[in-house]
Amino acid sequence: MGELRGTHVPVLLERCLELLAPALDRPDRTTVYVDATLGLAGHAAAVLAAHPRTVLVGLDRDTEALAHARVRLAPYADRVHLVHAVYDELTEVLARLGYAEVDAVLFDLGVSSLQLDAPDRGFAYARDAPLDMRMDQTTGITAEEVVNTYSHGDLARVLRVYGEERFASRIASAIVRERQRARLTSSARLAELVRQSIPAPARRTGGHPAKRTFQALRIEVNRELAALETALPAALDALSVGGRVVVLSYHSLEDRITKQVFASRARRTGPIDLPVELPGSGPTLRLLSRGAELPGEAEVAANPRAASARLRAAERIDPTDDRTPTTGRRADRERPGRTAAGESDGSEVTHDPPRSSADDRGSTRQGEGT
Ligand SMILES: C[S@@+](CC[C@H](N)C(=O)[O-])C[C@H]1O[C@@H](n2cnc3c(N)ncnc32)[C@H](O)[C@@H]1O
Repeated sequence: MGELRGTHVPVLLERCLELLAPALDRPDRTTVYVDATLGLAGHAAAVLAAHPRTVLVGLDRDTEALAHARVRLAPYADRVHLVHAVYDELTEVLARLGYAEVDAVLFDLGVSSLQLDAPDRGFAYARDAPLDMRMDQTTGITAEEVVNTYSHGDLARVLRVYGEERFASRIASAIVRERQRARLTSSARLAELVRQSIPAPARRTGGHPAKRTFQALRIEVNRELAALETALPAALDALSVGGRVVVLSYHSLEDRITKQVFASRARRTGPIDLPVELPGSGPTLRLLSRGAELPGEAEVAANPRAASARLRAAERIDPTDDRTPTTGRRADRERPGRTAAGESDGSEVTHDPPRSSADDRGSTRQGEGT
């Protein structure tokens, strides 16, 4: 384990604790908290300190993060399971540990400061490093392999879809031209190629010109979106009734997946024209956040890496409790609630209104604060 470089300040920590507390405070039994993205255990340590009867299952695909987390969590060692795994393996991990259900799950997506600040891992466009970008350095392809072996079409697709990069094709052309001269191995050289490919007027807006390209390559290298699409439904399936999930996203693609998975379970599923709800056709999830909540200005000022965070939270409910005649409820289904972010996701928010929302801040910012 290398020396710990700086610290990772946990994002929206107080709000996460507040949202998870009702699920973890069960007077009659021990509760289980899954931290699907353990990182340096900032959130996990705070949860364990606040809930002395809670057991942690902490996952991370980064062995270095796990080693640091183990040290930090030493005071709680008798109620901690740390697992080297991708979070889409959550179901198997819980089965191995013998947990049929869990009470709370946190996904704090993206990269940690440990990874961003590493001189040798290539996540940050602001410093020169080999183009690696793997969160798990024991396996998988590197960003260097992506930029040197993908066809022009595949590179442009990755940059367009995962980076939402308008100049994807021009950047892909520049990469292909460069690698015909010499293998592209350095993050600084890649950042410079991207900068040169973007027309000067466009460079002046939207942050560092290489931000979107680096985000796209990181998502591709780590198969981030596919893992989330599998893991989030698995986490919801594992939740006990009354259990809660909180997701912190750092770009719109992650947030969109979260919003869609939550919305699909927060709706009724029965035929729309029956006079009564069929037992079991009610929603299995209750939304706890209206739209996406954002950190306040004070938090962003103290921790610029929080700037792009968006929080969504939900609680598992029992669909068989939902046997109310549709009168009155039908209106909810036909006129879906508008979220604070101006989104209509067809589901209802029933409590815990946000303090700061995407709408309040008028923000559609995305990408990592590298
Ligand atoms: C933003 S950090 C978490 C920080 C943590 N909440 C804290 O307070 O220290 C995200 C962590 O999730 C891990 N991670 C990202 N995607 C993952 C995945 N698909 N499976 C497992 N771990 C993942 C990263 O390696 C990183 O350590």
